[in-house]
Amino acid sequence: ANKKLLVLAGDGIGPEVMGEVKRVAAWMGSQRAVGFDIDEALVGGCSIDANGVPVTDATMDKAMTVDAVLLGAVGGPKWDGVDFSIRPEAGLLRLRKDMELFANLRPALVYPALADASSLKREIVEGLDILIVRELTGGVYFGEPRGITDLGNGERRGINTQVYTTSEIRRVAAVAFELARKRGNRLCSVEKMNVMESGRLWREEVTRLHQEQYSDVQLSHMLADNCAMQLVRNPKQFDVIVTDNLFGDMLSDEAAMLTGSLGMLPSASLGAPDAAGRRKALYEPVHGSAPDIAGQGKANPIATLLSFAMMLRYSFDLGTEADLIEGAVSDVLDRGIRTADIAGTGAAQLVSTGDMGTAILE
Ligand code: NAI
Ligand code: MG
Repeated sequence: ANKKLLVLAGDGIGPEVMGEVKRVAAWMGSQRAVGFDIDEALVGGCSIDANGVPVTDATMDKAMTVDAVLLGAVGGPKWDGVDFSIRPEAGLLRLRKDMELFANLRPALVYPALADASSLKREIVEGLDILIVRELTGGVYFGEPRGITDLGNGERRGINTQVYTTSEIRRVAAVAFELARKRGNRLCSVEKMNVMESGRLWREEVTRLHQEQYSDVQLSHMLADNCAMQLVRNPKQFDVIVTDNLFGDMLSDEAAMLTGSLGMLPSASLGAPDAAGRRKALYEPVHGSAPDIAGQGKANPIATLLSFAMMLRYSFDLGTEADLIEGAVSDVLDRGIRTADIAGTGAAQLVSTGDMGTAILE
């Protein structure tokens, strides 16, 4: 049966980069017998303009029932003034919250042709292929109590609370173990159990889950500050890293800079499995709507195409088809075909969004 996709192209360059994904999806249907039924809806600023809200209930209903959601990007200066609850980002937040997307997957992969775009030396990053799994719905960004209280005498106190429960830790760790099995079979769990109670619980629960269900995966533990150092000292030592919301925020941005190109970075967010074992999932590039280049055919579609490849691999177990896309991207880069954002080194030919899509398809 065809896979049901909801495409939310969004604002700015979102529709431009998503156009190339639709071409590749159509190619898959005609050449690889992997068909997609694509439904499209508005999210972000374009939805505010059309419907007064950044995402409608009808669109949410669709997002909750399809096999996977693909998102472009939301936002732009046009909507910067409006109240936060109806700002473009609120659409994304509602999707993440209602779909309960608790596991955020951020790969950092360095293509040989772009190794010099990294902020590190070529030999440290060439061939890098790691995946950071960040817990996305718990921890210090949401824990109670929180707030700013007045203590009198001009003194104020700001509070946030890091809270994790057994089930929150186990469900994100389970995602990470499963992903490790599909990759290099190694998982590094990152916390600060030396100074944090939540970190101690994190290590105990990950260890217990490993013994119960995933003893075939090679598990190691690392303190978060050491992990931050190791990522720049020797990032290739890692395969999959799993960590909490706060550390994951920092470490995934750090890892992103090992690759050096925002237009190349895909991501996925996964939720709980349904009765059939299928997880709710949303795939999107890490970059935003790039209003500075929107409408000019300059946007790099690779981050969104690689997000589509992640969808094939992680939602549908279509690893061969995902390999095809990632291999085509690598080939095209080897031939020096570049959009402007990655033109830095080894560029033989500067191309538009559409021509990059065509080169990858070919
Ligand atoms: P941005 O990621 O949109 O752009 C940063 C810089 O990178 C810009 O110079 C842009 O031209 C360039 N860039 C980004 N993606 C590119 C691509 N695919 N190809 C070529 N160049 C690319 O971040 P910025 O400028 O901070 O935010 C712009 C808007 O996007 C804001 O409204 C922001 O709120 C929104 N945003 C949305 C996100 C999302 O939808 N998940 C994430 C980040 C920002
Ligand atoms: Mg961040």
